[in-house]
Amino acid sequence: MSVNDDPNAQQREFWRNADVWVQEQERLDAQLGHIGLAAMETVEGLPTEANVLDVGCGCGQTTLQWSERVGGSVLGLDISETLIDVARRRGAAHAAERPETAPIAFEIADAQTADIAALGAAASGRNGVFGGFDLVFSRFGVMFFADSAAAFANLRAATRPGGQLAFVCWQTPRQNPWLVTVNKAVLEIVEMPDGGGPAVDPFAFADPDFVSDMLGAAGWSDAGLESFETEVLYGVGSTLADTAQFAMDLGIARRALAGHPPELHAQAKDAVIAALAPFETPKGVVFPAAAWIVTARN
Ligand SMILES: C[S@@+](CC[C@H](N)C(=O)[O-])C[C@H]1O[C@@H](n2cnc3c(N)ncnc32)[C@H](O)[C@@H]1O
Repeated sequence: MSVNDDPNAQQREFWRNADVWVQEQERLDAQLGHIGLAAMETVEGLPTEANVLDVGCGCGQTTLQWSERVGGSVLGLDISETLIDVARRRGAAHAAERPETAPIAFEIADAQTADIAALGAAASGRNGVFGGFDLVFSRFGVMFFADSAAAFANLRAATRPGGQLAFVCWQTPRQNPWLVTVNKAVLEIVEMPDGGGPAVDPFAFADPDFVSDMLGAAGWSDAGLESFETEVLYGVGSTLADTAQFAMDLGIARRALAGHPPELHAQAKDAVIAALAPFETPKGVVFPAAAWIVTARN
């Protein structure tokens, strides 16, 4: 299979191995929950029987939240089979506990290339009469495509005319210092291996002009970006050492430390603890954070 057939193969591999997103799902949900809810609250005027697509849904917290808010159906789509396994288990438990909420389906698919309308038709139970999603939503799940304009055009193709887009993405690393704080501390102890740069760049949509131009190129209208400045409670409810370990299990820190002896891991952990200490508060480690709430229409 060529890269043209499978443009996000590297992403699939990265997120298949995202076991920390499974193990730390509750902490990550607690960290990101209020930002996702803020984006949900900007969505107005959905029809009563709205069908919603949650892109890059991961372990599915926002997919379940949408099922409580709409009367149609909700489809959570993600490239990672590991994360969709978790989401399906959560979805089944949610449906058993809350049978009155909208039906949920989860599918493993690349949002850039999949026939999403066909998946939506099956999820809504309206094969043949599915007119497209009323809303395409994402909480930090749309910044990782090999070709963003192609992916957003593919998402638009599965959206009904007049349907909405709403997602959240991070602003700059400077406004979201948790990643830099942790990585800087680790990289003072170990070097980044060759080719060890970020496999995923969570800040790929930091530039608002890039995002609105890209959405325009993908055929979306009325793109708007609203700044959402907030805090994230990093490693909620845990000790500084526990939070340091959580931070080191994510992203570049983990890749940089792979294969190094335990003494270096211990030194890196001490460095991360020292770097996190200035952000410690009585409720835990708290970082400033800034996201864009992005909206558009088909
Ligand atoms: C930062 S995580 C966010 C997960 C979830 N939305 C949340 O807020 O917990 C990014 C997600 O995007 C997914 N993803 C990355 N590339 C994708 C693609 N091409 N198609 C579908 N999902 C993708 C990843 O597997 C991962 O679950």
